[in-house]
Amino acid sequence: MKSLDPRPSVIEERLKKVKRIIAVTGWKGGIGKSVTACAMALLLAKKGYRTGLFDLDFAGASDHIILGARGLFPREEKGLEPPSLEGVKFMSVVFFSENKAVPLRGANVSDAIIELLAITQWGELDFLVLDMPPGINDAALDVIRFARKAEVLAVTTPSVIARDVLARSLALYRRLKVPILGVVENMAAGVKPKGAAAAIRRDRGLEKAIGRPSALLKTAFAADLGRALRSLGLL
Ligand SMILES: Nc1ncnc2c1ncn2[C@@H]1O[C@H](COP(=O)(O)OP(=O)(O)OP(=O)(O)O)[C@@H](O)[C@H]1O
Ligand SMILES: [Mg+2]
Repeated sequence: MKSLDPRPSVIEERLKKVKRIIAVTGWKGGIGKSVTACAMALLLAKKGYRTGLFDLDFAGASDHIILGARGLFPREEKGLEPPSLEGVKFMSVVFFSENKAVPLRGANVSDAIIELLAITQWGELDFLVLDMPPGINDAALDVIRFARKAEVLAVTTPSVIARDVLARSLALYRRLKVPILGVVENMAAGVKPKGAAAAIRRDRGLEKAIGRPSALLKTAFAADLGRALRSLGLL
């Protein structure tokens, strides 16, 4: 029987005017996915691209902290219009959780994210950056399934464990036929990692720039990421 759920077609319609969707992923936690997603969105917007950023991490939403997004909230206008911050249209699950931990389980998280994808009005965008939660759970799989244009930008670190997890994640994306845009190796030890688009060094100045987008753009981290994105043909 054909599914009666209208949301897949609503999401397709909503994302029709979005040229590219980049899902920043990397299954391990705490390896820099969120700082990468935020800095990437800021760099793309600075370059003049119409850019959106969507923090999809229910358990650990952090982009609003990295961007210093205080007092922002989406406007209700035939759906939800994301507020703008430094030229980036910004949407986060945190807008709906009032900064509290959300005790949602698998299917409910998935439902909530799909709902948000269905009601958010991004309008015309060159890039929509998705900050994915760690791991690959129902929600992450659904995002990839519903946002059909999504390409993966994988973040990893030089650790043997992170690389092994990365290899498994890439194998799954290949199996699901999700295009892999590239791999960035964060907190790299200085040498260009094999198979990775580029290395991002550990940057002691990054922590101080958290919450200040203009300072974030001036970090060595952002400079390295910019180089990585240029080598991927994005900037
Ligand atoms: N290249 C770097 N140099 C210095 N600090 C970094 C670097 N990359 C990330 N960090 C720091 O590491 C911490 C974790 O980064 P971030 O929150 O982006 O990771 P994450 O992969 O999104 O984590 P989670 O899995 O919890 O979503 C942050 O405090 C961030 O500032
Ligand atoms: Mg994160």
